[in-house]
Amino acid sequence: MERFSLQTVKKLLNGRTLPVLGLGTYRVAREAVRASLDRGYRLIDTASCYDNEEEVGQEVKKSGIPREEIFVVTKVSRRQHTQLTPHLSLDMDYVDLYLMHSPEGGKVLETWDTMIQLKEQGLTRQMTIGVANFNASHLKHLKEARPGHVPVVNQIEIHPFLAWDECVSYCEEEGIAVMAYSPLTKGRKLRDPSLCKIAEKYGKTAAQVMIRWSLQRGFICIPKSSSGERIAENANIFDFDISDQDMKILNGLDEHLITDWPGIMNTPWEP
Ligand SMILES: NC(=O)c1ccc[n+]([C@@H]2O[C@H](COP(=O)([O-])OP(=O)(O)OC[C@H]3O[C@@H](n4cnc5c(N)ncnc54)[C@H](OP(=O)(O)O)[C@@H]3O)[C@@H](O)[C@H]2O)c1
Repeated sequence: MERFSLQTVKKLLNGRTLPVLGLGTYRVAREAVRASLDRGYRLIDTASCYDNEEEVGQEVKKSGIPREEIFVVTKVSRRQHTQLTPHLSLDMDYVDLYLMHSPEGGKVLETWDTMIQLKEQGLTRQMTIGVANFNASHLKHLKEARPGHVPVVNQIEIHPFLAWDECVSYCEEEGIAVMAYSPLTKGRKLRDPSLCKIAEKYGKTAAQVMIRWSLQRGFICIPKSSSGERIAENANIFDFDISDQDMKILNGLDEHLITDWPGIMNTPWEP
């Protein structure tokens, strides 16, 4: 079984790396970002539409942790396609991973081309680019149109109750890292009896089992919490392994439960 820690990184297609566990920051206050960095998290996920990029940038600076040790992920909102300045919103020299937030709204290739240019500019030398909420077909279309620039990450909602098998298989084939958002089902399934039974067996909480499942599936996982205690709890998952048999039970809980953005993965391809 692969050993993980908060320092474990996943190697991306382009040779760069990202920690396997990070903090999601949708609707969290700056204190949560600070608490996560204090507790050893080194990956922070934000987005221009979360209206907190400036705060994230400030907390990263205030932490005193060398910039190169922290991995900042942000996303371009659907409405900005040609003027992309993620590092300015964060008041940073660069971001580590820049994602197209969704395939919705058209102008996918125009946006992707702008992101490629940003990546290639010396100004954003550390930056690498990916997508979010793309299904396998979107990824295939993008690869056909821009074969030299496959996204390194696809950030999608995924947890034991939502499998996206076809998308995950395609990402695995292409070497695209899957980043799991809403990995705790936004709290909706924390009392599921099968999940709780497994959690009890390992002396862990249901949230910890879902995060551990995500890592053992090979995903990068970004649970959100605004509580310092739960931020610590969510990182206390490195001292146990879920057995193959229990992974099978968890994989079998799929009920196509989408808790965040209904229909987004079924968006028609509008290049
Ligand atoms: N790319 C996209 O389109 C997209 C969409 C959605 C989300 N995301 C990203 O993914 C991140 C995570 O997803 P999410 O925020 O939707 O949901 P989530 O991480 O699945 O769940 C967050 C909820 O679970 C609770 N929680 C956290 N840890 C817990 C624990 N140990 N025990 C019990 N409850 C716990 C939180 O409450 P407390 O805060 O009170 O702890 C919050 O209500 C977001 O913050 C965002 O960065 C990306």
